[in-house]
Amino acid sequence: MRDWSKAEWVDPKYNWKPLPVSDMPERLLIDYATRCNLRCHMCPVWGLDDEGQIDPVKGIMNLDAARKMLDEFTKAQPMVAPSIYGEPLLIPNLREVIADLKRRGIAVAMNTNGLALTEKIAEFFCEQKVDSVMFSLDSATPETLKKVRGVDKLAKIEAAVFRLLRIRGDREFPRVGVSYTIQDSNRHEVDEFVSRWVGVVDVVRMGIVFENGTFPDMKEPSVRVACPVIYKTMPVHNDGSVRLCCLDGVRATDMGNVFERGVREIWHGEEFAKARYYHETSQWDKVPFCKGCNGWAQYEYEEEVKDGLLIRRSPEYTYYNSLARLTNWKGNLLGGHKPPPVAAVKKRESQDELVQA
Ligand SMILES: C[S@@+](CC[C@H](N)C(=O)[O-])C[C@H]1O[C@@H](n2cnc3c(N)ncnc32)[C@H](O)[C@@H]1O
Ligand code: SF4
Ligand code: SF4
Repeated sequence: MRDWSKAEWVDPKYNWKPLPVSDMPERLLIDYATRCNLRCHMCPVWGLDDEGQIDPVKGIMNLDAARKMLDEFTKAQPMVAPSIYGEPLLIPNLREVIADLKRRGIAVAMNTNGLALTEKIAEFFCEQKVDSVMFSLDSATPETLKKVRGVDKLAKIEAAVFRLLRIRGDREFPRVGVSYTIQDSNRHEVDEFVSRWVGVVDVVRMGIVFENGTFPDMKEPSVRVACPVIYKTMPVHNDGSVRLCCLDGVRATDMGNVFERGVREIWHGEEFAKARYYHETSQWDKVPFCKGCNGWAQYEYEEEVKDGLLIRRSPEYTYYNSLARLTNWKGNLLGGHKPPPVAAVKKRESQDELVQA
C-alpha cells in the first residue's frame, strides 16, 4: 500500500495515520452498458428530468478493455455486479460477458428489472452458475409499480422471477431474490410485499431510498465515521472512469480511468487517498459528494433466526434469507457480509435430514 501520509495536501495537525486499504477492492461494480428500458422515478440516472445530464453517461463498455481490467482483478476474486446504472439484461454480448466472469471464478451478483429475462437467458444463468440474481420489484401491486418504476407490468416481472426459480429448481445457483426500495410511493405495501415473497425466493431485500444526496430514512449513530464504501467497492463506468461511490451516477467525482491506469493504480491512487484522508480526519467539507450523505452508517448488521429465516438488519437494508436456501450464500458472493452463522445452516440441514429419514 502506498503511503500518502506525507503528501502535500495532508495537514500535519491531523497526525493522519492512514487506515489499511486492501490490495484490491472486494466488490467491483462494472457498468457494461449504461442503458435501460425503464425510467424509475427514484433512479439517480434515469429518473433525472434533465436529458442533458443523462446523455453523457449513456454508453457501452469496450469488451477488450473490460477483459484487460479483469486480468488484473482475477487473482483477487472480487464480487462483480455487471451493472451500476444500467439494466444488465440489455448488455450487448451478455453471454460473453457473463461467461468471461465465471471462467475467471468470479462471483457474479446482479440486480435486474427482469423485463427482458427470457427462458433462454434464465437457462444460461443456471448453466453458468451465476451466483445471484435479484429482481427489483419495489411494489406488491401494478398501481404501485407504475408509480415507482413507471410501468404496470408487475405480472410480467413476477413471471420472470418464477421462470428463473423453475428453471433453477433445486440446483444451488443462482441465488434468487427480490428487492424493494422503500420510498413514499410504496411505503404502504412493505408488509404485503414481505409476506408475498418470504419463503418463495431465497432472499427478500428491503432497502431505503437515496434521494437528494442522502438516505432520509437512515437511522445513523451520533458519531460519523469514515465510510466503508470507499474501502470496499470500486464503481467503474462504461468508459473505464472510476467514481468515488456507486451513488455518483452522473460523474460528479473522478478517481481516474482504470482502462488507462489500471486497477491497483486507481484504488491506491491520489484521488481515493485524498477521499479516505478527508473521511478519516472528519473533513467532510472537502468531499462535497459525501458531505450530506449518511451512507457511511449502512454497514453494522444485527441478525436473528426466526420462522425459518435468517433476518439481517442494517440501518439501510433488511434481508430475509430463507434458511432452506442458505448454502448458496458464501464465498465472494458475500461481498463484505459476514457468512451466515454455521448454526443456522446446520439447523436447516438437520431439519432436512429428519424430513428425509
Ligand atoms: C440502479 S439499479 C440497476 C439494476 C437494474 N436496472 C435494477 O433496477 O435492478 C440497482 C438497484 O438500485 C435500486 N435503486 C434505484 N434507485 C435508487 C435510489 N434512489 N435509492 C436506493 N436504491 C435505488 C434499484 O431499485 C435496484 O434494486
Ligand atoms: S431499471 Fe434500474 S437502471 Fe433502469 S431506471 Fe430503474 S433503477 Fe434505474
Ligand atoms: S458517504 Fe455516501 S456518497 Fe460518500 S462514499 Fe459513503 S455512501 Fe457514498
